[in-house]
Amino acid sequence: MIDFHTHVLPNIDDGSRSSDMSLEMLAEEAAQGVTTVVATPHFLAQDMSIEDFLERRNDALSEVRGNMSKADTPFPAILAGAEVYYFSSMGLAEEVSMLTVEGTNTLLLEMPFGQWSSRVFENVEQLINRQNLTVVLAHVERYIGFQKDRSVWDKILTLPVIPQINSGSLIEKRRLFRRDKTYEFCIEFAKKTDKLILGSDCHNLSDRRPNLKAGREALEKALGSSAVAMTDKTIKEVLG
Ligand SMILES: [Fe+2]
Repeated sequence: MIDFHTHVLPNIDDGSRSSDMSLEMLAEEAAQGVTTVVATPHFLAQDMSIEDFLERRNDALSEVRGNMSKADTPFPAILAGAEVYYFSSMGLAEEVSMLTVEGTNTLLLEMPFGQWSSRVFENVEQLINRQNLTVVLAHVERYIGFQKDRSVWDKILTLPVIPQINSGSLIEKRRLFRRDKTYEFCIEFAKKTDKLILGSDCHNLSDRRPNLKAGREALEKALGSSAVAMTDKTIKEVLG
């Protein structure tokens, strides 16, 4: 089991607050049967250069790997990655490829939280066709509410992008007499797609804790084991 989207590295973004917390989160991942996590701290181009980000991320990763090797608990392996927030002209910025998941040409892209424009489409298309990147759209369920006009959404989803859904969004929450809209969207989306990645997007040990196992179980309950197998197949394709 692979958790493709996590904020387990300490003191680099709004995820883990300390080395101890990182180890607890990783031990929890292992307890759920996760064998590999991709560490995907937030990268915001307006805050930091790619070089500075990579130096900070790699330092945090070395610290965690060092601490894991000293502990007696089982831990998953960690692959270095990033959750790259969309920025204008990123499609032509070749340095973006430095932010791909270790050993791959796969980029976890966080899309704008607003109406997507044709410029957004162009940039995503350039990342794929000019830069030859495999683009994974982080938590695809979190943007749909902003797309009053769905034409760009539809166009982007016809590109060979790989959608990722947060496992927590698949865990059904009932609101009085209505089912949760995000849950409904995710199930309908998962039904129609032949490529999908689940990730916990865990940030801590409280309200955004590692929950990949529960998400997989919820997907299986809703759509059967073939849906879970489809997510495993997608992640293998993406990580090579
Ligand atoms: Fe995230």
